[in-house]
Amino acid sequence: MSNRTFTMIKPDATAKGNTGAILSMINAAGFRIVAMKMTKLSKEKAGEFYAVHAARPFYGELVEFMSSGPITAAILEKDNAVEDFRKLIGATNPAEAAEGTIRKLYAASIGENAVHGSDSNENAAIEGDFFFSKLEQF
Ligand code: CMP
Repeated sequence: MSNRTFTMIKPDATAKGNTGAILSMINAAGFRIVAMKMTKLSKEKAGEFYAVHAARPFYGELVEFMSSGPITAAILEKDNAVEDFRKLIGATNPAEAAEGTIRKLYAASIGENAVHGSDSNENAAIEGDFFFSKLEQF
């Protein structure tokens, strides 16, 4: 079934000039971009987006990093989008990411890991709506 996932190209990948290469891999893997914008999260907004991790020891670091520079947010459509996108990006820790995955190619560490991908259809919808109004989702 065709469904949707949400991604962010994170500040590390933006700063290194990898946005275009990552979008190319996303398209080559069969995902259709149905919403996209380049923006910068305030600390408050980054904290809100990652509120589910608020109790984790890395939360402060995560919020600092995600608000440190521009990101590209996008909604992607494909059959089995959530699971297939997580396969394309690889493990959260790039040291464990499979060959050929986006994180293996472009991530430096578990914190600065190039891209975010939703972990469920429900969170994909919540995360997409966090960045895009319904008018901006095609
Ligand atoms: P992401 O898929 O965006 O979802 C939560 C993020 O928290 C994750 O990617 C990592 O970038 C970050 N994260 C997870 N574990 C750690 C950790 N141990 N130290 C720093 N950041 C982490």
